[in-house]
Amino acid sequence: MTTDIDAAREVLAANDRGGYTVPTARLYPFQWNWDSAFVAMGWASFDAARAWREIERLLEGQWEDGRIPHIIFHAPADTYFPGPDVWGTHHAPPTSGIVQPPVLATAVRAVFAADPDRARAEGRTAAIVPALLRNHAWWHAARDPLVTGLVAILHPWESGMDNSPAWDAPLARVPTTTTTAIVRRDTGHVDPQMRPRAEDYQRFIHLVDAYRAAGWDAGRMYAAAPFRVADVATNAILLRAERDLLSLAERFAPAQSRAIDERIVRMERALGGLWNEARGLFLSRDLVAGAALDVATSAGFLPVWAGVGDGAHLAATLARWLTHARFAVPSTDPAEPSFEPLRYWRGPVWAVVNWMLAEGFAAAGEVASAQRIRNDTQALIGGAGFAEYFDPLTGAGAGGNRFSWTAAIALLLSGTSRPHRGGA
Ligand code: GLC
Repeated sequence: MTTDIDAAREVLAANDRGGYTVPTARLYPFQWNWDSAFVAMGWASFDAARAWREIERLLEGQWEDGRIPHIIFHAPADTYFPGPDVWGTHHAPPTSGIVQPPVLATAVRAVFAADPDRARAEGRTAAIVPALLRNHAWWHAARDPLVTGLVAILHPWESGMDNSPAWDAPLARVPTTTTTAIVRRDTGHVDPQMRPRAEDYQRFIHLVDAYRAAGWDAGRMYAAAPFRVADVATNAILLRAERDLLSLAERFAPAQSRAIDERIVRMERALGGLWNEARGLFLSRDLVAGAALDVATSAGFLPVWAGVGDGAHLAATLARWLTHARFAVPSTDPAEPSFEPLRYWRGPVWAVVNWMLAEGFAAAGEVASAQRIRNDTQALIGGAGFAEYFDPLTGAGAGGNRFSWTAAIALLLSGTSRPHRGGA
């Protein structure tokens, strides 16, 4: 199935708000952190200058302490809750105070490689690498203060897989009381059946209230956190980003290479420790309860994207999942009791996760799995358009439509990206 490249480019152009790309109109009217990293790679397939702008506009939101928040509120919009007043972070431009999976260094390396204007690529990358170094240093200092090799997320939204059933147990400990009045906007845009339930939403906002009360200080947030999880996806994505940062640092910041290398060694070992033989999958860890979160989700395959794990074993697990689902890769194992094919992160397929998994399986030599995932992703987009996510049983598109990161992945899969060059 071929993808309509012009249509994908048109989605990015339509969601462009002046150097940054909203995930989709109305439902998500600001700049989201990991969306923008994928979107920058999509832009780089046909407009590298615009790809650099996407990254630079995201970095406008970076804090003094190095964190890059999950939302940058460049311009006001009243179609989204919780807005800047709820976060109360006092940053200019306004931002949230939590983060999202750090795909950015991976995107910078890809845009650097794709940009046909080598002088521009060198100049932009040299200017951006120090921000990436500060960001990765923040992750380790703020989220792994005990130097275990695994970083913690303190809010389900930090995983980017907001409503994953893996968070049910640790989230159940979070009180439903809030000091903020909840005015949900999401359920006005899309079917409430697909969105998080009211009680979970109260817990999400309880956490926001708690961290705002901690003044968004990294140390106080960590200490106060009633939700503290070593998410296998976030850690795999950070480890992969460290490898990409190392490649950039060798050229642009050689003095930093050793420190990055040490982090990589530590993370490889710790991430490997999340393997669960019975599941044939990696599992996240609840750092409050000190126990594995025994739910099989697509996050559990992501170490393959970071070069960790036995690709053949993971491929076999995926094949088992796919005996119950027509399209790869469901966000939750269809055999899990918590599987729901259309509810947020509890079953649907996301194109960005598929892309990382296909890349990872290909690099691990699991070419058939990689190809299956790529083919399915293209079939889903070809059949249902640039939907936010897809039903793994029927292939129907769901959530928002004309979604930027789905269009970006269509561009990456269509193979129109310029060949990698420039070395790093
Ligand atoms: C939802 C997703 C999150 C994404 C955001 C914007 O909140 O769970 O991963 O970044 O939408 O697309």
